Amino acid sequence: MKVLTTVKALQHQLKQPDKSPVGLVPTMGALHEGHLSLMKNAAADCPVIVVSIYVNPTQFNDKDDLRNYPRNLEKDLGMLATVLREDDIVFTPDDKEIYPQKDTRVFDFGNLDKVMEALHRPGHFNGVAQVVSRLFEIVKPDMAYFGIKDFQQVAVVRELVRQSGSGIRIVPNPIVREADGLAMSSRNQLLDPARRKEAPVIYRTISAASRMLRKNDIPEIKDFVKKEIERSGNFVLEYFEIVDDIELIPLKRKTEMKDSSKYYGCIAVRAGRIRLIDNIRILLV
Ligand code: PAF
Repeated sequence: MKVLTTVKALQHQLKQPDKSPVGLVPTMGALHEGHLSLMKNAAADCPVIVVSIYVNPTQFNDKDDLRNYPRNLEKDLGMLATVLREDDIVFTPDDKEIYPQKDTRVFDFGNLDKVMEALHRPGHFNGVAQVVSRLFEIVKPDMAYFGIKDFQQVAVVRELVRQSGSGIRIVPNPIVREADGLAMSSRNQLLDPARRKEAPVIYRTISAASRMLRKNDIPEIKDFVKKEIERSGNFVLEYFEIVDDIELIPLKRKTEMKDSSKYYGCIAVRAGRIRLIDNIRILLV
């Protein structure tokens, strides 16, 4: 693999052996098995992949979150060396490469950036759209790989591609979980030991919730989720919503569900200073 830090070097390298399709895996580093599974899937489809590692300041609405975000480039490169091939590229730009000028673009994603994460992280998806569109412009990938743990991010990026008409194929990848069920996340390493031990309650609860629709309506399911998550006093529920995967409209009653749509239960939990998110497919009964 080649590690490149400038847009110029990256674009020069991509022209060298002109291989296609080119796959892009955007990351903010602090890599884990979930990221590696994205890269393995990308490498299976594409003769050359670009993995970007860049902690994008414009998507952090909380300065402490940006400051505390885990960074360990040496360790990341070691992990990448186990999955990437000779021609694959690791792109580790600094702020000036990504934002040579201040990015003042304001995107409009309709309902997609008015629900769930957007209500708790104002401006987050605008920042994601800024950096992802810059990376698309720099790399010009044919396909781009994202984990569906960030369910709303996948919907926003799809809409970004639709609005730009770039035709980049967005490939969503399944959630990779720890042995105890906790969805892998770079933020898991920031959990204190007691909360880390209890964190599997999140997946356990949404799994139980996904089976409740037969006998219960949505308000009862939401009450159940809140009670289970907050039982120990170590976690606070920010939201649990059942939404379709296209418009992300939160359902109030199960009578609103349509056979033609796919539904997911999406959760965000505050664990002290750390936020954890997860989701699960909800089948119509
Ligand atoms: O999912 C992430 O890690 C980030 O939001 C992304 C897509 C790399 C943009 O900074």
